Amino acid sequence: SGGHKSPIRVWCDGCYDMVHFGHANSLRQAKALGDYLVVGVHTDAEIMKHKGPPVFTEQERYKMVRGIKWVDEVVEGAPYVTTLETLDKYNCDFCVHGDDITMTAEGVDTYHLVKSAGRYREVKRTQGVSTTDLVGRMLLLTRNHFRQDSTARSPYTSCSQFFPTTQKIIQFSDGKSPEKGDRIVYVAGAFDLFHVGHLDFLEKAKQQGDYLIVGLHTDPVVNNYKGSNFPIMNLHERVLSVLACKYVSEVVIGAPYQITEDVMTHFNIDVVIHGKTVVQNDLDGSDPYALPKRLGKFMTVDSGNDMTTEKIVERIIRNRIEY
Ligand code: CTP
Ligand code: C5P
Repeated sequence: SGGHKSPIRVWCDGCYDMVHFGHANSLRQAKALGDYLVVGVHTDAEIMKHKGPPVFTEQERYKMVRGIKWVDEVVEGAPYVTTLETLDKYNCDFCVHGDDITMTAEGVDTYHLVKSAGRYREVKRTQGVSTTDLVGRMLLLTRNHFRQDSTARSPYTSCSQFFPTTQKIIQFSDGKSPEKGDRIVYVAGAFDLFHVGHLDFLEKAKQQGDYLIVGLHTDPVVNNYKGSNFPIMNLHERVLSVLACKYVSEVVIGAPYQITEDVMTHFNIDVVIHGKTVVQNDLDGSDPYALPKRLGKFMTVDSGNDMTTEKIVERIIRNRIEY
């Protein structure tokens, strides 16, 4: 109403290793405390010094944070201890962090400077998800896998202590419908442990239209074609991870494996897109994309990225991360 109040600039920083919806939720809350969100991400060397080697490289971590829809700007190589000089350099009013204490290798609270200057705000940490928990699920998965135990239970039914609510989904969603004339793009998949390969794929897919709908297969369907104890993240968790991505307009919670006439007309789909990865046939041997292919509404895009959920699991095993 007529004022010239300058926008409130908010600062967050962290490792953002194996970015999950807990990180995204903290950035969402931070953004809500102001108008513009700057996120500082630490280098590999800095993380190595204070808490051991990260799973993802700094380039991967920078990219993942840039892909989160509440993030306006990423500062690469932010220092581990947040200083007033850093806040001033990026014109940020205050720094926001979850309600857990983070320490340097020397045991110093990384936010002591901004706290004593009154330029610190706290948000609630998201319960039931953490890098440690995800690593635990992956190690559990491979142990059962090596045992060839056919009765092994999938982690999605037992591990997660995260309670999904409609409120959380509403907070993560834009609630925007497609506009008249929008070209509607549809992609479907597991999107398990949402990673840089998914992000690059969704960026390319979005470039083919105006409104991007991501169909997520249910846990039993993913388990059918991925086998072992996949998925690592259950459907509700995968919904939030994908909704946090800035290229995504809408998510189908439990999409059918076959792209039927119903799916095409219900969502008004102009084009169905899949990446370069192999398409698993349906249980009856049919191609799930047969219909859009016949209609001339199917295309493949190359994400240019060879990351897979399985590769992440391999990295975890190789790094022998403690949990
Ligand atoms: N965060 C959160 N909820 C979680 C995990 C992280 O709100 N479940 C927040 C942290 O409080 C911090 C930000 O995400 O403000 C980035 O923190 P980072 O240093 O990357 O994360 P960790 O706390 O190490 O996350 P994790 O425990 O998953 O490794
Ligand atoms: O394997 P998943 O079902 O999660 O893949 C979802 C979509 O992302 C698929 O279209 C797949 O081809 C694409 N993808 C990609 N590049 C990667 C990983 C996945 O294009 N590195």
